Amino acid sequence: MIIVKSTDYNFQKHSDIAFVATMGNLHQGHLHLIKAAKLQSSFVVVSIFINPLQFNDPNDLNNYPKSIEADLSLLDLSGCDLVFIPDDSILTDIETFQAPDTSNILCGKSRPGHFDGVLTIVNRLFEIVKPSIALFGLKDFQQFILIKNHAALNFPNLCIKGVETVRDNKGLALSSRNNLLNQDELKLASNIFNELSLIKKNYSSNNLYLLIDEAKNNLIKLGFKVDYLDSLDALSLNKIDSSTSSIIIAIAVYLCEIRLIDNIIINEP
Ligand code: PAF
Repeated sequence: MIIVKSTDYNFQKHSDIAFVATMGNLHQGHLHLIKAAKLQSSFVVVSIFINPLQFNDPNDLNNYPKSIEADLSLLDLSGCDLVFIPDDSILTDIETFQAPDTSNILCGKSRPGHFDGVLTIVNRLFEIVKPSIALFGLKDFQQFILIKNHAALNFPNLCIKGVETVRDNKGLALSSRNNLLNQDELKLASNIFNELSLIKKNYSSNNLYLLIDEAKNNLIKLGFKVDYLDSLDALSLNKIDSSTSSIIIAIAVYLCEIRLIDNIIINEP
């Protein structure tokens, strides 16, 4: 595996790059993305950069887990061909972007500026790495839609692919934050996906808001603090209307101060 730290590295000498951007602290979810990338191209680039631009709380940034040695060991076995680990000089003279209005709902509501920071760094990474395809996890659905739309405007030849969320055997979406939960809390956290799955199972065109309220109340009774549990048009992230063909139910909750997100897609019958 090639290790590159310089932003001047000539990525163009590798053709048809499949790219996975990360902030490190890698887990099975990232490895699944890399596996999916390897199916798209024989040359997979993974970046590790903890992007200060997407943190609005300096404590969050300082406390973000750093595990570069463990990450490199995992990457070595993962099918990654090149790992790109830039330092903060990647931010010098960076072109900044303001994310569109859909960045101010769901996760963006409580994290103003977060998606501006995500689009700004992802744009810079795309400029440097010049991939043919970039893969992002669908757990961060809002991020995926914003990056996909940004790329369509700014990198028309780049294909953005969403990759299914990886779950543990109880359905909990994998996340580095799960490491902060003990065994009992992890078990409890599986109720998030249980409730989403119940909404999907019982959905008919006139009971969605009732089901969402029920799910919210169930989670509150179990001790979760619900940040949001919303239904939106899955293609645009706008409000559902008569043109909606698939709906996303997106959720963010706090369990013992740990913020967990997930979502499920419901296709209109
Ligand atoms: O999803 C992430 O890990 C980050 O938001 C990303 C896409 C690597 C940008 O810093």
